[in-house]
Amino acid sequence: MRCIAETAPRVSSGTVPSAPPAAQLRRFHPHDIPVIADIVRDSLHENYDNSLYLSLGQQWPDGFLVAADALGRPIGFLLGVMQVDQEGRILMFAVDRAHRAKGIGTQLMKAFLERCRTQGLRRVTLEVRVSNATAIRFYTDFRFSVTDLLRTYYSDGEDGYQMARDTV
Ligand SMILES: CC(C)(COP(=O)(O)OP(=O)(O)OC[C@H]1O[C@@H](n2cnc3c(N)ncnc32)[C@H](O)[C@@H]1OP(=O)(O)O)[C@@H](O)C(=O)NCCC(=O)NCCS
Repeated sequence: MRCIAETAPRVSSGTVPSAPPAAQLRRFHPHDIPVIADIVRDSLHENYDNSLYLSLGQQWPDGFLVAADALGRPIGFLLGVMQVDQEGRILMFAVDRAHRAKGIGTQLMKAFLERCRTQGLRRVTLEVRVSNATAIRFYTDFRFSVTDLLRTYYSDGEDGYQMARDTV
């Protein structure tokens, strides 16, 4: 049985109510592809075939998270996959330029790490361009650390860092 105090609305003792979430998080749907592909072109400078989003989304539906605006339109996303050895790997992560620095990336990352834990994954890895200072700072704030330097990892010849953290 639940104690009444658990269900009663909390009376604020002068604290400021917490802000509403910046976006609604939900699973990826195939009809999101055109908007997500636009975000990927603009933010990650990549142009992938629609079939890639579909096949990766099927691999682990809970790992493909979409942040949507009030109309349900994607304004950011995080696409993660499961790998051997109980590892998650972030393949793509971006927030639409007009919606950055509002906490949406943080919402997506927190939800993804929670899903990894629920799934029993112990570790999460990702790759990032060495020049991408904003993303590196974001990941460092989330306790990711550099585990490897990946020489000429990107198709334009730029090096990458592999970064990783435990899920707990
Ligand atoms: C990385 C990215 C997804 C972060 O999303 P976001 O919604 O802007 O992130 P948040 O608003 O949750 O910001 C959280 C933290 O990230 C860092 N950050 C975000 N924007 C920043 C900026 N313009 N400059 C410096 N740090 C920044 C800060 O540490 C910030 O913490 P703060 O709010 O306490 O200052 C977003 O910048 C992005 O889409 N970048 C382009 C695509 C990309 O680089 N993806 C990663 C590829 S590996």
